[in-house]
Amino acid sequence: MALWGGRFSHGPADALFALSRSIQFDWRLAPYDLRSSLAHLQGLEDGGLLGTSDASLIRKALKQLQKEVESGEFAPQEGDEDVHSALERGLTEKLGELGGALRAGRSRNDQVATDLRLYALDHMLNVAGLVSDLQSTIIEKSREYIDAPAPGFTHLQHAQPVLFAHELAKHAHALGRDVDRIRDWYERTSFSPLGAGALAGSSLPINPEASASELGFKAPIANSIDAVSDRDFVAEALFALAMVGLHLSRMGEEWSLWTSTEFGWAKLDDAYATGSSIMPQKKNPDIAELARGKAGRLIGNLTAVLTMLKGLPFAYNRDLQEDKEPLFDSLDTLNLVIPAFGGMVATTVFNREKMAMAAPTGFSLATEIADFLVRVGVPFATAHEAAGECVRRCESTGRELHELTDDEFAAVHPALTAEVRGVLTVSGALASRTTFGGTAPDQITSQLSSLAAQIAKNSAWIGSESQRFSGMMGQ
Ligand code: ARG
Repeated sequence: MALWGGRFSHGPADALFALSRSIQFDWRLAPYDLRSSLAHLQGLEDGGLLGTSDASLIRKALKQLQKEVESGEFAPQEGDEDVHSALERGLTEKLGELGGALRAGRSRNDQVATDLRLYALDHMLNVAGLVSDLQSTIIEKSREYIDAPAPGFTHLQHAQPVLFAHELAKHAHALGRDVDRIRDWYERTSFSPLGAGALAGSSLPINPEASASELGFKAPIANSIDAVSDRDFVAEALFALAMVGLHLSRMGEEWSLWTSTEFGWAKLDDAYATGSSIMPQKKNPDIAELARGKAGRLIGNLTAVLTMLKGLPFAYNRDLQEDKEPLFDSLDTLNLVIPAFGGMVATTVFNREKMAMAAPTGFSLATEIADFLVRVGVPFATAHEAAGECVRRCESTGRELHELTDDEFAAVHPALTAEVRGVLTVSGALASRTTFGGTAPDQITSQLSSLAAQIAKNSAWIGSESQRFSGMMGQ
């Protein structure tokens, strides 16, 4: 059903209709559209623009439509342009002319901005919950490997030994920032565009403050033109989602490496790995790879919306209709990826022996020699040179650092006494990294507890906010 037409002598060309139609993707806004219509209806009634009996007829019809939309009994049709026109058709089918009364004091411009904010708030909360669950899974895995040494890398070369729990826990911090980012975004997004009308507000006595609070927003948006044109919340949400995707992609890369035959550090559970149609021996890390691959579309969705917004006159323009598919796609994508990724992480078994054996190789204890010298007063540059010379001697004679003789150490630098052997063990190197955030076992233990506390705080917020939101939607 067309929401306009009075000033037109004939209807839209098929090609225009096909281009401008958005029902095929915006129908998922229907529950939010109906909920905000109920709030708008209240405003019309409170403002004396609708009598009590008309208002209650419309309210009943809207609630009936809520049920029919949920059950699928009411569905969009070929001729519906978008979610707003489809639902107005539904209302008119029930109420006749009265179904059109809700359009007073409201435009699709403030309506769609309101619907999309509600949708985004609801679904971003859901993603925050998934990310927070994945964080918990990672922490549990870290606890399993709290005493497992492994090589730490820079430039993908052995650098210094670390506890494997340290290696895993870093991802929980990255995901923690993602949840925090969603929380910040949530606070900033929770303002209502409803009442802005097409752009200038309304001459009718509706009450944007009241509808904002009924819909669970903190307040109405302060400028009605900004209210209908602002899509920062979409771009920001897409950035937050792209960052989640990026973190999963970087983790995916590690999982792919670790499960390779060359590394042989990790074994995937059969339920979270795939086989090959031709090579019977294959066990592939497809979840890790799809996570890595899907980061591309998450970044693409962000880029699409930023590019669409660039240079757009600061009010409603039809370009803004292009905000929805990228947002929906990014949310859908993470809804698919995160649970699979979590299952993969939870069931991965790491090879402690292999990681421990690799930990001291590649001369990863060379820094210990330099630090040993610094502790006895040698300037670091000299200490670094001396440690480098130890590595050179080992490399040319095919030995490891602890295999150098006392005489050789002394020849490299007089301060390199036999005591240096004390730091040439992985456990010694790990235990010595006691600075805040370092790899010493105590540091890792306390790091894991503060992560757990952060998760508990965020989960409580997600839980109470989701409850509040579904309470609002259920009214
Ligand atoms: N489907 C449109 C959108 O998503 C709804 C708003 C249409 N507003 C308008 N003035 N034509 O943006």
